[in-house]
Amino acid sequence: PRVAVVFGGRSSEHGISVVTAGAVLRAIDRTKYEVLPIGITREGRWFLTADEPERMAITDRRTPDVDELAESRDGGVVLPVDPANREVVYYEPGSVPKALGEVDVVFPVLHGPYGEDGTLQGLLELSGVPYVGAGVLASAVGQDKEYMKRVFTSFGLKVGPYVVIRPREWAQDEAAARKKIVDFAGEHGWPLFVKPARAGSSIGITKVDDLAGLDEAIAEAQRHDPKILVEAALRGREIECGVLEFEDGPRASVPAEIPPPDTHAYYDFDAKYIDSTPGIVPAPLTPEETADVRRLAVEAFDAASCEGLVRADFFLTDEGEFVINEINTMPGFTPISMYPKMWQETGIGYPELVDRLIQAALR
Ligand code: DAL
Ligand code: MG
Repeated sequence: PRVAVVFGGRSSEHGISVVTAGAVLRAIDRTKYEVLPIGITREGRWFLTADEPERMAITDRRTPDVDELAESRDGGVVLPVDPANREVVYYEPGSVPKALGEVDVVFPVLHGPYGEDGTLQGLLELSGVPYVGAGVLASAVGQDKEYMKRVFTSFGLKVGPYVVIRPREWAQDEAAARKKIVDFAGEHGWPLFVKPARAGSSIGITKVDDLAGLDEAIAEAQRHDPKILVEAALRGREIECGVLEFEDGPRASVPAEIPPPDTHAYYDFDAKYIDSTPGIVPAPLTPEETADVRRLAVEAFDAASCEGLVRADFFLTDEGEFVINEINTMPGFTPISMYPKMWQETGIGYPELVDRLIQAALR
């Protein structure tokens, strides 16, 4: 089968997507699949890129960029894939895809808005091409931290305290919106986490210790999304669990624990990718706790109607309760990422994981 590995994209997680795609390209069985690396620039242009995964890595604390990988920008948007002009992906902003049908399956290795949020999934649905991972609804739910929590709550999963500030609320009465946050802090205490509702890899998130830092944190979150969320800091341990869909349904991996990084305020972008805070796999939990978190991860997968895969992130609070923080419908797969590490520890190595995901999409 022909697999289009699509990566980069218009979100702030562009670079992480490129790193993940590099690892995926390295791991795909080339005797079984014909692979087309398709990079989307930060502006939204699609290119066939060189098949050079070694260039798709973090170097000098910098993530790679599709612009550096595009083979040629002649003609602007799209390159025909081979001399016979067999166009595989034809997409220009503002137009419909022309020949996506030429590939058997798309692996959208994209994080964040315009990739992991249902928009690209909708394009692929319209084009009738199978793709790896969550569909339109699950992607949209998994990308919006507000609706994600609402869905989890309605399925009986426990979420932490939060408030949402919508764009219109802020536009109409900033003072009232700010008071809502201050009242929330009065009830739940500082620090707070101020987050863009739709973003990832901790980009745009600030841990705010007191009132003095609030305005800057709100402005930073709003730079990424006009809708923002404010969450209370939960006291406890950070536990993650991977879910992968098998022939007979979803199964959970062994869980991992993310210890609090000593050189960062929390598990932020640099802690995740640049200084690669090591996670502990498997998480040192009791057998009961392990069973609980694995069950809850599958419940989260089902609550959001996920397909293929998900990474579910929890807090195990000091009260001994698992609170779900979020899911990621296309979690990072970089060589240091937790999702593949958890599956490795569960007995499924990276190449098999990639193969299973493609096979699930083709079923
Ligand atoms: N959003 C990043 C890629 C993750 O959750 O792994
Ligand atoms: Mg995330």
